Amino acid sequence: MRFTSDVLVAAIAFFGLLSSTHAWQTSFRLTGKTLVLGNVSYFVPPTPVSQLNISGDAKTLSSLSTTANDFAGEIIPITVIPTSNVSFGQAQFQSTVDSYKASDDVFSESFLAGVYILFTGKGKPTASVSFASQAFNTSLVLKSPQYTGGIALTKPVPAGPYFLSPGSGQIFEALRLYEDEQQSFVYGMASSQMVREDINRTPLHTGCGNRAFYNFYPVKNQTAPAVQRLLDGGMVLVGKTKTSQFANGEEATEDWVDLHAPYNPRGDGYQDGSSSSTGSGTAIAAYPWIDHTIGSDTGGSMRGPAGANGVFGTRPSHGAVVLDDVMPLSPELDTGGVFARDAKAWAKVGHWWYQNFSDFTQFPKKIWFPVDSFGGSFLNGTTPPAGSSDAVFNDFVTKLEGFLGTNRTNFNFLNTWNTTKPANSTAPTLKVLLNTTYADLISLDQIALVADPFINAFKAEHSGRAPFINPAPMNRWAYGRGLPPTQKADAIQNKTIFMDWFAQNIVKPDNTTCSDSIFLYPQSDGSTNYRNEYGKAPTAPLGFSSGRIAVHAETPDMVVPIGEVAYNSTITNTTEFLPVTLSFIASKNCDLMLFNLFAALQDAGIVKPVMTGARMFSDEPV
Ligand SMILES: *[C@@H]1O[C@H](CO)[C@@H](O)[C@H](O)[C@H]1NC(C)=O
Ligand SMILES: *[C@@H]1O[C@H](CO)[C@@H](O)[C@H](O)[C@H]1NC(C)=O
Ligand SMILES: *[C@@H]1O[C@H](CO)[C@@H](O)[C@H](O)[C@H]1NC(C)=O
Ligand SMILES: *[C@@H]1O[C@H](CO)[C@@H](O)[C@H](O)[C@H]1NC(C)=O
Ligand SMILES: *[C@@H]1O[C@H](CO)[C@@H](O)[C@H](O)[C@H]1NC(C)=O
Ligand SMILES: *[C@@H]1O[C@H](CO)[C@@H](O)[C@H](O)[C@H]1NC(C)=O
Ligand SMILES: *[C@@H]1O[C@H](CO)[C@@H](O)[C@H](O)[C@H]1NC(C)=O
Ligand SMILES: *[C@@H]1O[C@H](CO)[C@@H](O)[C@H](O)[C@H]1NC(C)=O
Ligand SMILES: *[C@@H]1O[C@H](CO)[C@@H](O)[C@H](O)[C@H]1NC(C)=O
Ligand SMILES: *[C@@H]1O[C@H](CO)[C@@H](O)[C@H](O)[C@H]1NC(C)=O
Ligand SMILES: *[C@@H]1O[C@H](CO)[C@@H](O)[C@H](O)[C@H]1NC(C)=O
Ligand SMILES: *[C@@H]1O[C@H](CO)[C@@H](O)[C@H](O)[C@H]1NC(C)=O
Repeated sequence: MRFTSDVLVAAIAFFGLLSSTHAWQTSFRLTGKTLVLGNVSYFVPPTPVSQLNISGDAKTLSSLSTTANDFAGEIIPITVIPTSNVSFGQAQFQSTVDSYKASDDVFSESFLAGVYILFTGKGKPTASVSFASQAFNTSLVLKSPQYTGGIALTKPVPAGPYFLSPGSGQIFEALRLYEDEQQSFVYGMASSQMVREDINRTPLHTGCGNRAFYNFYPVKNQTAPAVQRLLDGGMVLVGKTKTSQFANGEEATEDWVDLHAPYNPRGDGYQDGSSSSTGSGTAIAAYPWIDHTIGSDTGGSMRGPAGANGVFGTRPSHGAVVLDDVMPLSPELDTGGVFARDAKAWAKVGHWWYQNFSDFTQFPKKIWFPVDSFGGSFLNGTTPPAGSSDAVFNDFVTKLEGFLGTNRTNFNFLNTWNTTKPANSTAPTLKVLLNTTYADLISLDQIALVADPFINAFKAEHSGRAPFINPAPMNRWAYGRGLPPTQKADAIQNKTIFMDWFAQNIVKPDNTTCSDSIFLYPQSDGSTNYRNEYGKAPTAPLGFSSGRIAVHAETPDMVVPIGEVAYNSTITNTTEFLPVTLSFIASKNCDLMLFNLFAALQDAGIVKPVMTGARMFSDEPV
């Protein structure tokens, strides 16, 4: 039971001269109400989830009205407590309250003004809770029909806090409102319950970070299957987070024109949150009331934000989740990923979401350590200086070696191409083979699948006027429009050459451990990228880097936060700390082996959950 909302801004227009002859056209509908209970803000949706059968029950109506006096006569906070215990008493009541307080951020003792004891067991039950009037100010005690004098609900409801309308007996969900200080969300969902029960009427409006797109297309009439799978597993949708426009890479100051870039909570709070899953990355790093956020990764849209915001984040194997009804950047490269602050919670979602993979619980014995990707002191084999990100990487990999019972294999990744490259490739280096491959695929695919259909349809409906497009996607599409018709086939061929080479020579499939090895590279090293610094105009994303390996090889690339490094902030003029994160690559479809490894590393204390806010870990030296 979790709900969030942007800070809602009401625009109120006064039409002083509304002609009475048109008044019949006015449509009226209740949209719920907001209230504050015990200093916490709640939203009460307009549609009840159940109702007490109080028709003609004068005694219950009278006690409802007495309790309602404490709540402006309007609505009674009430807690539904299911029990199978035939004699429910003080001890069970107290332990139920304790467990709700520990596990439900919507619940507070204020909801104990009313209680509804719901018997779920067998036999003739009794419940004695008179002590609660003293202990919790409980003034209304209702019981299900199995109890003497009990009263029925028209529909069963799950345990927890609700609001009860005293006149009608209607029961409403209690949705807690949170402020979105980081500006991570486009909007919150008004009813988590409706999302799960009546998908076709769910108002899910998609804008892809573009205002014209948001206004142009109608609300979708169904939930994407990837999201539906998560809802089916019991996840509660709390809102839609911001993406950089059409999932292209954008920098906070110069590129985010249509939306304002969300705020990365780490360090001084003014570091770029990376993109494109920016809102998801900043939200999971900032808000303790969120357990998971999701996003997509084509060229780094999960991994970049995981690195910048210091959280766990997946780029899964290509094909791990069905991406129907998800805006494409390039279907050959697009993937769906999940963020978390806890490796075991992350692994649990991964196992549920990536349901078609085999589960491997034995881990590889080989760690590829590409010194050219790590750079710095690893290139010349010197000891990394204390407090540097190199030292954080080195310390972590040393512990990983101990856990796996192996030593890392130092090697130069780019140079390995020279000696092992396939005979059918003339490319002298990987930088030549894959220089334009990514930029070509995403621009050509997105022009055909998103840009042209959108722009043409928009113009047709707006007398030839074009929609506004942010500079980054505009620039990439312009690059794609200049490519020859044969370019996509060339790009797919180069991608395939690389994918086959990587699977045959570097990270290979294995029958026991799924992947014969793990390939590590640095995802983020605590470098600053201030969001108030002016950068340069966007260009097509050319070039090859370690982040492109999984993109073309179709392997998982999972980001794990491993430490922090200090820096002198030009914003706060004090020492602050930024995330150091490590990327793990394994063979294609070995995602569950990696999740199992991270869960085991957390059990061993080598991987640690991260906190929300400026600092990731409480025990780092200051
Ligand atoms: C409610 O919040 C205000 C402001 O944060 C605080 O001063 C006050 O003590 C709080 N009251 C209760 C009952 O928690
Ligand atoms: C509601 O209460 C009335 C009167 O006691 C009873 O006749 C009716 O069957 C009840 N309805 C439900 C749904 O329990
Ligand atoms: C949902 O929308 C799509 C496209 O707008 C349309 O083709 C389809 O018929 C709609 N389905 C329902 C159940 O309304
Ligand atoms: C090794 O590399 C590090 C990082 O680039 C550098 O600071 C150091 O001076 C180098 N040491 C030697 C002996 O070359
Ligand atoms: C790792 O390297 C150390 C030092 O060279 C060596 O003593 C040790 O046996 C190696 N461990 C394994 C598992 O190969
Ligand atoms: C690999 O080939 C490239 C281009 O020919 C060259 O620059 C590089 O030095 C070579 N590396 C090795 C280890 O041979
Ligand atoms: C290139 O050759 C390798 C074998 O060396 C083969 O696996 C691969 O499919 C070939 N790629 C293309 C694009 O022909
Ligand atoms: C990559 O492509 C760009 C644009 O065509 C070109 O300027 C650059 O030299 C290329 N780099 C490599 C390593 O091929
Ligand atoms: C494909 O690789 C060749 C080198 O073998 C390179 O010249 C060409 O630019 C690459 N094309 C694409 C689209 O990646
Ligand atoms: C791995 O499994 C495949 C198919 O299950 C089998 O053909 C192959 O021989 C196995 N390889 C090893 C090394 O056991
Ligand atoms: C911060 O600045 C101080 C004073 O210039 C310097 O001594 C210190 O090393 C700097 N700290 C970091 C983490 O760069
Ligand atoms: C932070 O320090 C710089 C350099 O010492 C100084 O110019 C600036 O005014 C300081 N900023 C604030 C807000 O104190």
